[in-house]
Amino acid sequence: MKLIKTKNYEEMSQKAANVVSSVVTLKPDCVLGLATGDTPVGMYRILAERNKKGDLDFKNIKTVNLDEYVGLSAEHPQSYQYFMNQNLYSKVNLSSNNTHIPDGLAKDPEQECKRYEELIYSLGGIELLVLGIGNNGHIAFNEPDDSFPKETHVVKLTEDTRRVNGRFFDSLDEVPYYAISMGMKSIMSARAIMLLASGEVKKKILYESIYGPITPMVPASVLQLHPNLLVITDQ
Ligand code: F6R
Repeated sequence: MKLIKTKNYEEMSQKAANVVSSVVTLKPDCVLGLATGDTPVGMYRILAERNKKGDLDFKNIKTVNLDEYVGLSAEHPQSYQYFMNQNLYSKVNLSSNNTHIPDGLAKDPEQECKRYEELIYSLGGIELLVLGIGNNGHIAFNEPDDSFPKETHVVKLTEDTRRVNGRFFDSLDEVPYYAISMGMKSIMSARAIMLLASGEVKKKILYESIYGPITPMVPASVLQLHPNLLVITDQ
């Protein structure tokens, strides 16, 4: 594992954007695994600026996102599809055929998980996977549990996660109860992983995840086993 400590959120975002930029430059047709949430917003902004200036080309890049809420359409402002449209897809020259997110409205969510898992492998696997971390140690929507879910699956969100994510919704009642999430096998199969964590609120769980025991009760702790893990955090 390599750990980079930065002064603040902006520097973390710059460093993260540098890593993505070098992968995109060296492998211009690779697959990036992407996260939503507050943490990567600054990184996406910087990537969009570089693309606009002509310094970074996403024309042949493919993206697969980690997760999506079950029951929210792409037009719903809290769906992860909407988030990605706003923060990245509409700002860079990614082709719409090349961006992938689980379909939250799929009639058969279990079948959608299977389709998504196969899609990741048919694209050739993930070159670089960008992760954030939940306050409870979740990565994607792999919540603390007795075992590590392996492949893309339907997950029941914990009340903690619903409450934390409820900050984006008008009321807690509107927060979905289920999501589709990549599993640990899908995540750990990425050739490189970059975990981003910002702010005091993530300090304890980040420490436990990268230095504590490896346990499904702290899902991010499994990342300690990844041979090519980069953690970027702010002071
Ligand atoms: C989002 C995702 C989640 C977030 C995590 C942290 O696609 O998979 O695991 O990365 O909940 O969210 P923020 O960045 O909002 O603190």
